[in-house]
Amino acid sequence: MKICETRDYRDMSRKGANVISAQMILKPDCVLGLATGSTPIGVYDQLVDWYGKGDLDFSQVKTVNLDEYRGLSEEHPQSYHYFMNRYLFSRVNMNPAHIYIPNGMEKNWEKECCRYEEVIRSLGGIDLQILGLGHNGHIGFNEPDFQFAPLTRCVDLTESTIEANCRFFSEKESVPRQAYTMGIKTIINARKILLLVSGSDKAEILRKVMAGPITPQVPASVLQLHPDVTVIADREALGKL
Ligand code: F6R
Repeated sequence: MKICETRDYRDMSRKGANVISAQMILKPDCVLGLATGSTPIGVYDQLVDWYGKGDLDFSQVKTVNLDEYRGLSEEHPQSYHYFMNRYLFSRVNMNPAHIYIPNGMEKNWEKECCRYEEVIRSLGGIDLQILGLGHNGHIGFNEPDFQFAPLTRCVDLTESTIEANCRFFSEKESVPRQAYTMGIKTIINARKILLLVSGSDKAEILRKVMAGPITPQVPASVLQLHPDVTVIADREALGKL
């Protein structure tokens, strides 16, 4: 793993955006794997800024998102569709036909999982996958488990993730209990991975991810096996390494 230590969140966001923009410049029709959550917001803001200055072109870029809540429509303010429109897609010249996110409203979850894997395959795979890190080591919605789940699937969310997501919903009862997520194999099949981590609250889990045993109990630890992972993390997040 390549590690890049940054001063703070702002610096992490700028450097993360640099990696993504380099990918877009070298391959204008690249496939970006995208994440939601609080961590990549600064990266998306920076990309939007460079787009506004005429330095970036999203017209040929394809995007596949890591995950989506099951049961939330694109228009639901807490859906990941909505998040991506708000922070990135509506602010740059993305072609809507190039945007792929699991369909949270598809009732037949098996069909949706197969469709999503087929989408990624037909795009030729993911060039650069952006990841945030959950406090329990999850990536996408791949929670600690007894085995690494390979492909896109529908998962029951753990209490700790439901608890963490509560801040985005008016009440705990309305937090979805299930989500679609790329599997671990889907993620590590990406040609390059960019893991973004910020804050002292992630320091202990980041230590386990990078220096601990590779175990499905810490899903992100599987990244140790990938040949091209860049970790961009601020000083606080790297505080225990
Ligand atoms: C979001 C996702 C999640 C988050 C993780 C960290 O698409 O896949 O795995 O990356 O929960 O979330 P934040 O960035 O809010 O700490």
